Amino acid sequence: MIAQKIKQAIRDIPDFPKAGIVFKDITPILKDAELCVGITDAFVEQLKDKHIDAVAGVESRGFLFGLTLANKLGVPFVPVRKAGKLPYTVKQKVYDLEYGTATIELHTDAFEPGARILIHDDLLATGGTVSAASELIQEMGGEVVGFTFVVGLGFLNGRERIAPVSDNIIVLAEY
Ligand code: PRP
Ligand code: MG
Repeated sequence: MIAQKIKQAIRDIPDFPKAGIVFKDITPILKDAELCVGITDAFVEQLKDKHIDAVAGVESRGFLFGLTLANKLGVPFVPVRKAGKLPYTVKQKVYDLEYGTATIELHTDAFEPGARILIHDDLLATGGTVSAASELIQEMGGEVVGFTFVVGLGFLNGRERIAPVSDNIIVLAEY
């Protein structure tokens, strides 16, 4: 099944980006075209009863499957980018990191008010990134109707953090 295939492909990198962290490297997944199609199809299968107007993918690794998912669903893809990257008028959200803050942005014309937005990222860790994306989307009048992730790190409790926004949380491979 898909979870096993994802876990077989993922490469653990100890002490990256800093000592004590075991980084889940998804790049081997990207070399396996069949697995990439399988990942996208697995999301689509689990979303088939949902009404989704657009998929918002979070820079940068959320772009990889965010676009393929949007294409397969037949809906627009909107990039949630780090500060200073989007060229048109933007709305931004500053959020807290372990040390300091980060800023994400969306184009002001990314979607119409009332649009039903699915948020996609490659990995759910603490949930801080997608929480900030949810708040930004909600402040712009969108409705967050779910989340999809290729990988989840359950021990960091991200699911609990984002469940109040939407309990439609799809994680294909959970650690
Ligand atoms: C990683 C990952 C998620 C986020 C998960 O992105 O791709 O976006 O962290 O962490 P969280 O659930 O604790 O917020 P990163 O910021 O490393 O950047 P990248 O996607 O550009 O590699
Ligand atoms: Mg990321």
